[in-house]
Parts: sequence; C-alpha cells; structure tokens
Amino acid sequence: MPITVLIGAQWGDEGKGRFVDALAADANIVARYAGGDNAGHTVAVGSTVYKMHLIPSGVLHPGVVSVMGNGMVVNPVNLVKEINQLRDMGVSITPENLVLSSRAHLITPAHIARDRASEQARGAEAIGTTLRGIGPAYMDKTSRDGLRVGQMLDLEAFGDALHSAIERASADLVRGGFAPLDARASVPDYLAAAQTLQPFIQETAIYLHHRLKAGATVIGEGAQGTLLDIDHGSYPFVTSSSPTVGGALTGLGVSPLHINRIVGIAKAFSTRVGSGPMPTEQANAIGDRLRGTGANYWDEFGTTTGRPRRCGWLDTVMLRYSAAVNGYTELALTKLDVLSGFEELPVAVAYEYQGQRLDYPPPTTDDLDRVIPIYETLPGWHTDLSGVRHAADLPPAARRYLERIAELVEVPVTMVSVGPERRQMITL
Ligand code: GDP
Ligand code: IMO
Ligand code: MG
Repeated sequence: MPITVLIGAQWGDEGKGRFVDALAADANIVARYAGGDNAGHTVAVGSTVYKMHLIPSGVLHPGVVSVMGNGMVVNPVNLVKEINQLRDMGVSITPENLVLSSRAHLITPAHIARDRASEQARGAEAIGTTLRGIGPAYMDKTSRDGLRVGQMLDLEAFGDALHSAIERASADLVRGGFAPLDARASVPDYLAAAQTLQPFIQETAIYLHHRLKAGATVIGEGAQGTLLDIDHGSYPFVTSSSPTVGGALTGLGVSPLHINRIVGIAKAFSTRVGSGPMPTEQANAIGDRLRGTGANYWDEFGTTTGRPRRCGWLDTVMLRYSAAVNGYTELALTKLDVLSGFEELPVAVAYEYQGQRLDYPPPTTDDLDRVIPIYETLPGWHTDLSGVRHAADLPPAARRYLERIAELVEVPVTMVSVGPERRQMITL
C-alpha cells in the first residue's frame, strides 16, 4: 500500500506529466494534490500529444483511477472542457476512473478577474501568474470565504453562493478602479458544469484510505515545482500552493507513513516562466538554443500560457535545496536530448555571495538576485540521444553528466528521458 510522490524539483514544467504517465503503468491510482489549471502536463504517445491541466496524468491508462485531491483549486467550467477534449481524443473518463474531492476549492470568474487586477496593480513588479485565478482562490480558502466542490451538489444553493461571491468581488474591483463583473453572465455556465461534475464528487481522503488499506499502489502527482512553493520558493515570485512533499500529505489527506518513494523530476537544464530570480539564466544565444524556436511542441513555451520560458544551465545549488526540502529518494531527469551538440556544459555547483561560497540558496529574493553562480564545466557530446534506450548506449560524456549531477545533489539519478514520447526514456 505504498505511495510514490512525483515532485517538480525546479520551477515547474520539468516533465512531471510524462514520468507520471510512465509510473502509472504499474499503479492503481494517480492523485493530484495541489494547484489548478495553472499546470500543463504533457504526455506524448506516438504522435498524439495530450495536455492535462487539471486531470491527473495517469488518465491514459485504462485501469488507473485519477483522483483530484482536496489540495487542488478547480475551475469547474475548464474541468468539463478538459474532460470533453480528452474524450474527443478517445480517452474514457467516467465516475469509475475520475474522482473529484468534495473538499477542493472552486475557482470562480471573480478569482480570475482579481488575479488579472492584482497583476495589473503590481505593474513592473508583476509575478507573471498564469491568470487562472489561482492566487485569489487560495486566498479565499485561507480567509475561509471559498466555495468548495461539494457545494456543487446542491445546484440552487451553489448558484446563489456563486452569484453573491461574484457580486462581492465586483464591488471590490469597482472600488479599485477596475471594470465590474456580470454575475448573471457566468452563473449558468457554472451551473451546467456543476451538474456534469456531480457524479464525480467524493470524499477523496477516505476513498484513498480504503484503497490504500486494500493494497492499492498510488502515485501522488505534483504540479508546479519546489522553487515555486509558497513557503520554499523565491517569495513573492511563487505560486500560492505547496508543490512540495508536505503538500502531498495535506493535499490528499494521507499519512506520511504510506510514502516510500519520492521522485524529484528535473530538467537536464533550467527553465522558469514568470518573474523572479534565476541565477543560471542565459538571456542570450545559449538560452535561445535551449528554448528552441517553438517549431516543436516540446520547445520551451508554456503548455498553459504559450509564454516563452526563460532558459539556463542546470543549477545543482537549487536542486540540492529541493532535495533537502523534499527528501528525494531518487531523481528523474528530462530533456537530456536537448543538450546534445553543446561543446561544454557548465553546471552551477555553488553560489558566490558577498565574498562567501554558498552551497544552498539564500532565503531572501533580494539576496538570491545577487548571487553569482560558480560553474563546473563538464564535457558535452554530439550524439543524437533520441533513439537511446539503454544506459550503456549513452555517450560517456552524457553518462558523466548524469553521474556528476547525482554526486552534486547527493541523490541517485534513476531515470532519464531523451525525447518527449512515452518510450523515449532510460531506466538507469
Ligand atoms: P510538466 O508540467 O512538468 O508536466 O512539464 P510540461 O509538459 O509543461 O513541459 C515539459 C515539456 O517537455 C513538454 O512539452 C514535454 O513534451 C517535453 N518533454 C518531456 N520530456 C522530454 C524529453 O526527454 N525530451 C524532450 N525533447 N522533450 C521532453
Ligand atoms: P506545471 O505543473 C511552470 C508559475 C507562473 C508564475 C507563478 C505564479 O505545468 O509545472 P500562478 O498562476 O500559479 O499564480 O503563477 O508560478 N507557474 C508555473 N510555472 N509550470 C507550472 O505548472 C506553473 N504553475 C504556475 O508562471 O511565475
Ligand atoms: Mg507544465
């Protein structure tokens, strides 16, 4: 009855979706524990590319039950859209294989409007959120003003509660100089979505409790990444949830004693979308090359927003911190194929700050903005890795790159992917 948790080890978009899909082949349940449709998780099967925002990434496996945990914030209209899109692609989604926590919080049009207004008000200090209403939804949760999924079971009361929540937010927005909201315009869409979702709603913590007791194998699917965590990220340039291992416990309602494997998913280089410090960023031709032109779906443009991602060298200072916060039992690395062709591969091994050498990032964002990465330069390789399926067939320099990361982070690298497609991965 073990739980394996997969966690974004960097700033999100590490390739969590494809590794969740891979491990789901041997699991009974995949349970998402945090965030909402700010996430975009890509799984490629042959030439078909699936993009999950709310639905867990194990959904492509017919026998696997997808659980959307209480830690999530759910836009019900977008969830119904996603269910329909996946069904149109031939994926079966029924109340037998998708369970939605009655305790998860709802994202309303008021949250989306407040997210936009707050970003506008920050001006040059904007966080660069995904504008999906995530922050305001978690704010309402914490201030005990939120609407929860379970309320959708009583349509009349839900319609009234939603209407007054939107009216209240509208009055606040108008006071702040922003345009008013039209509650009547959005309530019908929400009621229709609520009706569609009713059969999926359950108390998921108790569901998981019973399934774990009966011996089920569960994958906890993280969203976002450790460096975007509300506590452990570069505050305030973070998301509003806990993508780290603690978030898996509260976001699913499971005991830590069930967890026996914690996999940090990291890209073989660094990317970040949105504002905030990124010490190894290469805002130059190297970054452009790591990003790609956008011609391929796996190039570094946001799965949810289409924004170009900031790119840079691998930062093992950040990964060491990420491992400390989560206790990774192993690391899985993605996009090793993208590094082919570089003569040399610099890897940040420490930071220099005010004449001192730091092995971990400083806690304040201002300090982090000023650190200078200390690089170790590893030899590159020129072989195309996309067809490699066995560690022994990797060029020695690629093997050395993986070994050195494991040494620097003090966590074994057990899996690596060499292309976005399901089979393009190597178990080490
Ligand atoms: P997630 O949010 O962590 O699930 O990651 P995203 O799906 O947002 O971003 C990862 C991107 O990298 C997607 O476009 C994937 O298809 C792609 N990807 C994942 N693994 C690999 C890999 O090993 N090689 C290449 N070239 N692309 C990959
Ligand atoms: P997945 O699960 C990358 C970033 C946003 C912004 C900050 C706050 O696909 O890895 P929010 O809308 O959450 O309030 O935005 O967090 N962000 C992500 N970046 N991947 C994600 O999800 C992200 N979810 C949020 O870009 O900087
Ligand atoms: Mg993503």
